[in-house]
Formats: sequence, structure tokens, C-alpha cells
Amino acid sequence: MGSNRKVVTIVGARPQFIKASTISLLLRKKGLQEIFVHTGQHYDYEMSQIFFDGLNLPKPDYNLGVGSDIHGKQTAFMLQGIEEILIKEKPHLAIVYGDTNSTLAGALAASKLRLPVAHIEAGLRSYDRNMPEEINRVLTDHISTLLFAPTKTAVHNLKRENIKRGVYLSGDVMCDLFLSIKDLLQSRRKQVLERYGLKEKKFFLATVHRAENTDNQKRWKNIIDGLTILAEKGMQVVLPAHPRIRKLLTKKIIGKIKIIDPLPYLETQVLISSSKMVITDSGGLQKEAVFNGTFCLVLRDRTEWTELLSSGQVVLVDDSIEKILSYAQKSNSRKNVKIEKYFGNGKSSKKIVNTILKYLN
Ligand code: UD1
Repeated sequence: MGSNRKVVTIVGARPQFIKASTISLLLRKKGLQEIFVHTGQHYDYEMSQIFFDGLNLPKPDYNLGVGSDIHGKQTAFMLQGIEEILIKEKPHLAIVYGDTNSTLAGALAASKLRLPVAHIEAGLRSYDRNMPEEINRVLTDHISTLLFAPTKTAVHNLKRENIKRGVYLSGDVMCDLFLSIKDLLQSRRKQVLERYGLKEKKFFLATVHRAENTDNQKRWKNIIDGLTILAEKGMQVVLPAHPRIRKLLTKKIIGKIKIIDPLPYLETQVLISSSKMVITDSGGLQKEAVFNGTFCLVLRDRTEWTELLSSGQVVLVDDSIEKILSYAQKSNSRKNVKIEKYFGNGKSSKKIVNTILKYLN
């Protein structure tokens, strides 16, 4: 079934490799022909290839190698490359994920060629147009044909923008992936903790990569001061460094905070579940903290994943040193949040692929 149908998957940034790993496998199992396009937005080994090696992702059929640049130029390179591929490959549908420049470029190139676009993780909104991701999300949703919303809030957000056709409440594909590896974590724990010289529940896992935090001196200083004070108080702080922050890491910071390379998927989950708390500005990590039953401080003033706030396991601390310190020093009991209630029962990718198949047939 479906073997004469061809889809093009367009990805380019780390979170998209993780999300695509759940869908690509199923597309192929169902006999669809998938052309896999990597824009090259992320290119360091730890930001890209490591996920292809670890998550059963197909080797890309095309890598556009766009690399880093200012937004317009980066997106323009992608548009040009993707358009050429779509014209050559003549697929029946394009699939894009999330909210990066690769998402927008894929959706725009496809929709201008009148190709249907499936957007996985549709309907998320921060209602902050200062974020490049928000612009990417809004534009992508408005030119998509099939919109797979991970949560009820996302469906509601789309309705507010009068997008009602083609909207499916699918659940979250990252939740699928987590549930599929959850039982592996315990067996990997000892080895991963030893590799990084860490002790169970004796460290904070921190990540900072959003432009709104890294490119704003005052916010960056506050966040780093908060983390440094925590470290000075005797609690280890581990920070896998996204390339965006490499140039910001001074000797003083490196002396206090344990800086490590970006981590592969499974190791990330082990460290989240073994940490005392996660402190992050990442959308994916705040969700994964809740999946793992770990308390999480979010270094933003809002979140697209509002369900997490009602779970009681996630708190917005923005760039407030006081809030970081006061929450981090509270003892937080583990809570097992019913993640199925918000993010689906691990069958979101199946739902998505079945809907795509139905649409194509
Ligand atoms: C992008 C997404 C963001 C997502 C994040 C996940 C956009 C607008 N933003 O942000 O939504 O949360 O990916 O990580 O698409 N760099 C390297 N090596 C790499 C990749 C990047 O050194 O492999 C450096 C470059 O200096 C580059 C900077 O990181 O200028 C930023 O990379 P970029 O692709 O612009 O966006 P991200 O910050 O990764």
C-alpha cells in the first residue's frame, strides 16, 4: 500500500532529527517512498550526525550544506536548494517539523509549487513575535495542508487564527520516542553518569541556547550568575554547550560550571532523569523533564507548552537570579505526571502516518 506515493521530509536542526526519527521509520514501513532532505542548518557532529547514528534515521538523500548565516540569507539558500529538489523529485507531499528556519523554508518552497505540506508540531504559539521561531510557526501553519497539533492548546491556537481545515490532534512525537526508550534508561545510567563524573541527584542539568537569552547581555549575565551562584553553593551544575554559547564562555564560567559537549538523545534522557533539576530555555527539554519526572525551571517568561505549567513540575523563572536560586534550593519531590493526558499515549507518529497515507490515497 502506498508504494507509488512519494514524500519529501525536510529537516535541518537538532530537534527535527529527533522528531523525524519516529515518523521516517513508519513512513518506510508503510511502503511510502521518502526522500530525506537535510538543509545543513546544523552541521557539527554533535548537533547533527550523532542523531543519525543513534536514532535509526536514514542517510539524507540530499544535504544542502547551508550552514550558519543571518536569517534572510540562510533561509534564502534553503529555499533555492529545496525548490530545486522538489522540482526534480516531484513528490506528492512535503513534511516539515517544528519552528526553525528549515521548517519555514521547506513549507514555503513546497507551497509555492502547490505541493501539500504536512506540519508536525503545528499550532504552538508563544505570542511573542520577537522570537524568530514564532514567525516561522505562524507562517508555516498558514501555508500547511495537514496540521498535526501535539496538544489541545495547539488546536485551540490554530482555531484562534481561523485555521480549522486539516487540523489533527495527534499528540506529541517526542513523547512517542521517549516512551519507546524509557525502559532502556536504567541500564545506561551508571555508565553515562561515570562518563561525565556525575552522581545521581547531585547535579543540576542546565542548557541555554535561545537567541533571546544568548544575544541579550543582561539576560545572559543574570542566567549565568544564577547558575554560578548555585555552583558556588556546592551543587554541581552541568551545561552541555550549544555552539551558540561557545564564544560566551569565559574562564570564570568554565571554572565554576561543568561545560560539556552537546549530548546525544539517550544520554540527555539519562542526565535529565538523574539530575536534581533541569534549568533550561529549550522547549524540548522542559517537556522531557516532565516525561522523566524531574522538576524544571524555564529561563523564559512564557512557554508554548502551557500544559507543563498545570502539571506543577515546571516553573517559569525568566532571567531572575532570585527565582533561580529560590526554586533550585527547594526540595522537590518527584511527581509522576500523567503525560498521556497532555501529550498522547505513544501512538502519535502512527496517527500522523496513517492520516498522511489516507490523504495521499
Ligand atoms: C535553531 C532554531 C531554534 C532551535 C535550535 C535547536 C532557528 C531560527 N532557530 O537555533 O528554534 O531551538 O535550532 O538547536 O531556526 N552553530 C554551529 N554549529 C552548528 C550549528 C550552529 O557552530 O552545527 C552556531 C553558529 O555560530 C550559528 C549559531 O550556532 O551562527 C546559531 O545557529 P542557527 O542555526 O542559526 O540557530 P540555532 O541557534 O541553533
